Amino acid sequence: MKLNTRTISVSALFGVFSSVCAQGSGTYTALPAVSPNPSNVTTYIYLPQTLASSPPLVVVPHWCHGSALAAYQGSPFTYAADTYGFIVIYPDSPWTADKCWDVSSNETLTHDGGGDSQGIISAVKYVVRKYGVDTKRVFVQGTSSGAMMTNVLVGAYPDVFAAGSAWAEVPFGCFGVDDPDDTPDYWNNECATGQVIKSGEEWAAIVHAAYPEYSGWRPKLQVFHGSVDPTLYPQNLEEDVKEWTTVLGLSATPDETFVNTPVANWTMRVWNKDGDPKFEATLAEGVDHNIQTQVQTVLDWFDLECVGTDCFGRPDEGVKLRRSSSREARYFFR
Ligand SMILES: *[C@@H]1O[C@H](CO)[C@@H](O)[C@H](O)[C@H]1NC(C)=O
Ligand SMILES: *[C@@H]1O[C@H](CO)[C@@H](O)[C@H](O)[C@H]1NC(C)=O
Ligand SMILES: *[C@@H]1O[C@H](CO)[C@@H](O)[C@H](O)[C@H]1NC(C)=O
Repeated sequence: MKLNTRTISVSALFGVFSSVCAQGSGTYTALPAVSPNPSNVTTYIYLPQTLASSPPLVVVPHWCHGSALAAYQGSPFTYAADTYGFIVIYPDSPWTADKCWDVSSNETLTHDGGGDSQGIISAVKYVVRKYGVDTKRVFVQGTSSGAMMTNVLVGAYPDVFAAGSAWAEVPFGCFGVDDPDDTPDYWNNECATGQVIKSGEEWAAIVHAAYPEYSGWRPKLQVFHGSVDPTLYPQNLEEDVKEWTTVLGLSATPDETFVNTPVANWTMRVWNKDGDPKFEATLAEGVDHNIQTQVQTVLDWFDLECVGTDCFGRPDEGVKLRRSSSREARYFFR
């Protein structure tokens, strides 16, 4: 049955690629003002016509010079949201000069400390309450500045998300290193060009400082980076590896390495925890900053094609983790 669902969705995916701008049969509207929202993030919601019961929620922060509307119009998730009944929200950066996200200020890098991250979390909490979202299945996916914000959200709000998927990014806190006067939306050229090098312990200290009281379950994360990215140097992938393997309590070396996965010439390293993938780092050989989101890979990582009670999500307090799809299922059709 599972196999059948996947066959249908994979073939349908070709339709998505050939008509990337398909807007779906649901509605795209602005959310009402929510607080706290100190930097004035505006957030838009895509609601499919038919919601799943206790729907999952995916947050998609846009790239620099992008917008919520551009992210929605180019979204690879609309078809899947229509099919599986999950909700997607698109926050819009308040920094009009470059439309990047603030991923540098102490505020945004601190749990409940203010900044763009807090405005996004307020929108998440509003949508969770209003639409009865399954709080075990809240996810975040972004590219470039949106991928940096993905790192910020899973690092500063580990209590909110089940998983993140970041495409062409820098580690949590990297843009905040030596940010003069704690300027929000600061472009850290040293970090971008891969010159901010730290040990896993040093990176982990930065992540833990975001929410020092937190000792609970942390979201799993997958990161992707082009090997010839001239905007955010690929050294940042290795810094990410040190950061997240340390924060997530994983070994320095991966448990498994998959070549040509999920695309020819891409190499995916996988770290497992309790028998399930917890962190994945993929180097896309020959790819520049314009890395293409592999929709199926993200849907699989978030287990968004799963409908029912046995889907991947945050574990309940004291209860066994809900499992993600098996690796065989995840990679069978590649
Ligand atoms: C956010 O909007 C409020 C109300 O319009 C305004 O007073 C405040 O200065 C804005 N904050 C920022 C950081 O722009
Ligand atoms: C960062 O912000 C938090 C919360 O507002 C504050 O408690 C902390 O002292 C700040 N840290 C730095 C280094 O400014
Ligand atoms: C993979 O790399 C080979 C050798 O450099 C190249 O010929 C081929 O076009 C690449 N394939 C893709 C899909 O990028």
